[in-house]
This record gives sequence, structure tokens and C-alpha cells, in this order.
Amino acid sequence: MPEKPDYGNWVSMRLVFLPALIGLVLLILALLFPMIVILAALFLLMAAYFAYARWLFSARGGDVQDKVYGLVLEHLDWNGQGRLLDVGCGSGALTIKLAKKYPDARLTGVDYWGASWEYSKKVCEKNAAIEGVNGRITFQQASALKLPFEDETFDAIVSNLTFHEVRDAKDKKELIREALRVLRKGGTFTFQDLFLIKRAYGTPEELVNAIKGWGISDVEFIDTHNEPFIPGALKLPFMVGTISIIKGKK
Ligand SMILES: C[S@@+](CC[C@H](N)C(=O)[O-])C[C@H]1O[C@@H](n2cnc3c(N)ncnc32)[C@H](O)[C@@H]1O
Repeated sequence: MPEKPDYGNWVSMRLVFLPALIGLVLLILALLFPMIVILAALFLLMAAYFAYARWLFSARGGDVQDKVYGLVLEHLDWNGQGRLLDVGCGSGALTIKLAKKYPDARLTGVDYWGASWEYSKKVCEKNAAIEGVNGRITFQQASALKLPFEDETFDAIVSNLTFHEVRDAKDKKELIREALRVLRKGGTFTFQDLFLIKRAYGTPEELVNAIKGWGISDVEFIDTHNEPFIPGALKLPFMVGTISIIKGKK
């Protein structure tokens, strides 16, 4: 049987097992201190929720993860000629989908690949090889905080659910600014993130105005959090309940 790519799941097994383990330990302790049973139940509920969310994101449970990538593909207005950058490429899933959609493009995926995720450069390269697009994609370790590229290097830039994850960025908007720095004038961008979280990005209007203030006149905000394929259980703010897209041309 041909080898299949491993694109992982946004809900890691750790998020399921850790609360389950804590819940079970607390359940045993509850034999001595009965009040602890409430805490045990909370942890076990948390584990059950993450297990269900993981299933919903997977191919067997509705393929929500794949459909969320589809929103970025759908909203990227590009002719596929030139170089594309994916900021925070994770397992390479979106970068590889873009490589398949744009057969003339050369693509770069960057990610920090820290310990909190099950992704790595090696996983990305293996996935690209299995999908037959490794000749046109380069994966590189780098931080979205300071991209290792000259100004105006790329013709198109995408990013999916990455900016909110960059812990050492005090102002998440600065990550958008850094990504746009390496986009050429006239180049196109589509970023999807938890842009409806006000304390990170302000209101959609404030976010669009901030981007316009950097000299980018063509900016559009598209609310994607109510897409019909997103089940209610995934609409929590830290899941995909606050996703939106900002797209435009530099
Ligand atoms: C929710 S995952 C999304 C991954 C991928 N974009 C996708 O849609 O499958 C968040 C990603 O952000 C990456 N990340 C976190 N901090 C980063 C940083 N400072 N620079 C680049 N990537 C970072 C993580 O390694 C992880 O791959």
C-alpha cells in the first residue's frame, strides 16, 4: 500500500491524554477525599471534549481541518506564478495543497517547530515527497517574529492559525506586519487566524485600519467562523470559533 502523508491534527493526543490522566488520578484520590470527585469529573470532561474535537477535525469525523485549509485556498487570489511563503506551516499540509494547486509555483514553508506541536521539518519534507511536490518546496526553521528573508521576496504569502500561537509576540499585529514586509509590491496575501479575538487584534475595523496605516490600501476582512461546515462543538474561541481571514494586495 502506498505511504500516506501525516498531516497531524490541531488537537494533539497530549491534549486528550493529559486531562484524562489527571482526571483518573483525582478519581482515585476521591476515594479518600470525596469532594475531589467534582474536579476529577471536570478533567475527564475536558479529555472527552478534546477527543471529540480531534475526531471532528480528522478525515473520519467531518474533515473540518481540511475544510479550514480550503478557506485559505479559496480566498487566495493568485495566478500561481512566482514564489509563495507559508508562515507557520506546521506539518506542511497547506503548503503542499498550494503546491498541488499551483504547479508552476515555488514554495517556502517556515515554522518554529517548538515542543508544543507534533510537527517538524522532517515531517513536512516527508509529506511533500509522498505527495510528489518536494522539488518545488523548501521547508525552513524560522520564527514568524523575524522572517529570514529580504524585503519584498515573495509574490504571495499565506498563514493559517499561526499568529495567535506566537507566544513571544506582545502585539500579534506585528506578525502580520512582518509577513507583509517580505511580500513584493503588488503581491497578494491571505491570512487566516483567530482574528475575532479582540484583545489580540482589536475589532475587525481596527485591524483593517492598522494594516491600511502601513500603506496597504487593498485589505479585506472576511468572517469565516460561521462557515456551515464548522460544527457547534468547535465554535469555542480557542478552537475555530473566532476564525476570520484578512486578504488583499500590497
Ligand atoms: C495551529 S498550528 C497551525 C499550523 C499550520 N499553519 C496549519 O494550519 O496546519 C500553529 C503553528 O504555529 C507554529 N508557531 C508557533 N510559534 C511560531 C513562531 N514564532 N514562528 C513560526 N511558527 C510558529 C507552531 O509550530 C505550529 O506549527
